[in-house]
Amino acid sequence: MSLPTDKLNHFVADHQLTKQQLLSLIDLAITIKQNPASYRQALAGKSIAMVFEKPSLRTHVSFDMGIAKLGGHALYLGQQNGKLGERERVCDYAKNLSCYADAIVARVFNNSAIEQLTQHATVPVVNALCDLYHPCQALADFVTLTEQFTDLSQVKLAYVGDGNNVANSLMLMAATLGVDFTLVCPDGYQPKQTVLDQALTLAQAGGGQLTITSDINALGFQNAIYTDTWISMGDENAKDKQQVQATFKPYQVNHQLMAASGADIVMHCQPAHLEEEITTALFDDEAKSVVFQQAENRMWAQAAVLVSLLAN
Ligand code: NVA
Repeated sequence: MSLPTDKLNHFVADHQLTKQQLLSLIDLAITIKQNPASYRQALAGKSIAMVFEKPSLRTHVSFDMGIAKLGGHALYLGQQNGKLGERERVCDYAKNLSCYADAIVARVFNNSAIEQLTQHATVPVVNALCDLYHPCQALADFVTLTEQFTDLSQVKLAYVGDGNNVANSLMLMAATLGVDFTLVCPDGYQPKQTVLDQALTLAQAGGGQLTITSDINALGFQNAIYTDTWISMGDENAKDKQQVQATFKPYQVNHQLMAASGADIVMHCQPAHLEEEITTALFDDEAKSVVFQQAENRMWAQAAVLVSLLAN
């Protein structure tokens, strides 16, 4: 069983991870995927509390079953205790869970809850999605890109759509890894300036090209195109659906856009809103769509994160 050397304390925000940590995690995820039997006891005796404020299919199942495959125990905590911070303070939630659990996985509405958990828990915290980041998804996506293209430094990746949590995490990880990344979001839907600034600083250090534009015709040549929902969980009431659909229509990812950019593969974190951000024909196109490879890699990427966090 091989383990990364650059020790992780938490896995909560992409810009906090070094290139070496990310490369080690990608490598470990692929190693576990290829040799799951060697890691059957990797989390033996470890219990992981999973707090979910929002719905989930892939994240819930891939953590639960991935932890079981590594010999550990996962406990799902849904909404039965109310929203985080309502029935009791987030700091007390963190301190109580630390009495029993070896790690906390949390999907929350607001990144401040993740920050409070990391501040007050005495065990590692994993961000399973918040309003700002989705690092487990991005890690799985770079595992998928490594499988598809082998050498990440040669990959050109574009994200087309809403400048949301998935876009932020992909952009920050690409910048750290030195992967050429193009972000195409309609005006008014780009990531927050603080995240853009972080990404630009990381890209300068990482050596990859980072392009941010609202012009879909400026997409240029790409190896892979990524998209996600135009309205994220928690934004349903804040956004006018009709206006969003009209604004984003030219940004739909379809066979025409794939042909124009020369991209070999299309990626989506799911759930997909078919005929909105992606056409059904492209989502279902087995020659181009790697969405289920991404979904499977969630489990191996998270396995790598947990093994690294909990390794003695
Ligand atoms: N941006 C989406 C990702 C879902 C996995 C959301 O936050 O709802």
